[in-house]
Amino acid sequence: MNISDIRIAPSILSADFSRLGEEVRAIQAAGADLVHFDVMDNHYVPNLTIGPLVCEAIRPHVTIPIDVHLMAEPVDALIPLFAKAGANIISFHPEASRHLDRTLSLIREHGCKAGLALNPGTSLHLLDHVMDKLDMVLLMSVNPGFGGQQFITATYNKIKMLRARIDAHKAEGGQDIWLEVDGGVKADNIGAIRRAGVDTFVAGSAVFGAPDADKAYITIMQHLREQAAVK
Ligand code: DX5
Ligand code: ZN
Repeated sequence: MNISDIRIAPSILSADFSRLGEEVRAIQAAGADLVHFDVMDNHYVPNLTIGPLVCEAIRPHVTIPIDVHLMAEPVDALIPLFAKAGANIISFHPEASRHLDRTLSLIREHGCKAGLALNPGTSLHLLDHVMDKLDMVLLMSVNPGFGGQQFITATYNKIKMLRARIDAHKAEGGQDIWLEVDGGVKADNIGAIRRAGVDTFVAGSAVFGAPDADKAYITIMQHLREQAAVK
């Protein structure tokens, strides 16, 4: 994997919500590959954030894909709403859907890439019979609900196991599946996370936690990319 193969997805959970349009424009200008959009419902997770209206509001401000992470339950009714609001990728947690296969199909039917989000304690075996329906697996490296938490180190092993599964699937003629990690990604661990096999990195507080000058985002994004590329 080389540096151009990696994708960085700043999570706007840690952005300044009073000026979200400017914030997403600034991260795109700083080289972000995706906008990570965390949806929390005070039911599946103990926090409450943003919905399709906000997705629709930021859509005209960027051309990069919007990567919607649903931490909400139930999920099916939200899929058409987010597709209409301009989402490009929609991921959900298996515990929040009664019918994994159906929900994955629904996302693709609405023209979006489909992702499954696995909590630190959720087994990779859930992927066994739906590999062909996946465009992305989102591995949580913290328990979902809040930005600024510490990366759970047991995730490294899980990443390696998932990388092997995805590579085996591809070797058998399967489609591309992105491996995204979410939670506690910083400049000092992004290299190790990439070496374990991740290609897509969510970074919330690492990007938006800095002083809010747009210039700082460029420096931070470059630093993350450089650190990710360290062999
Ligand atoms: C947590 C969210 C993450 C969060 C990451 O539930 O899914 O996307 O914003 O934030 P950091 O990078 O600060 O851990
Ligand atoms: Zn997220």
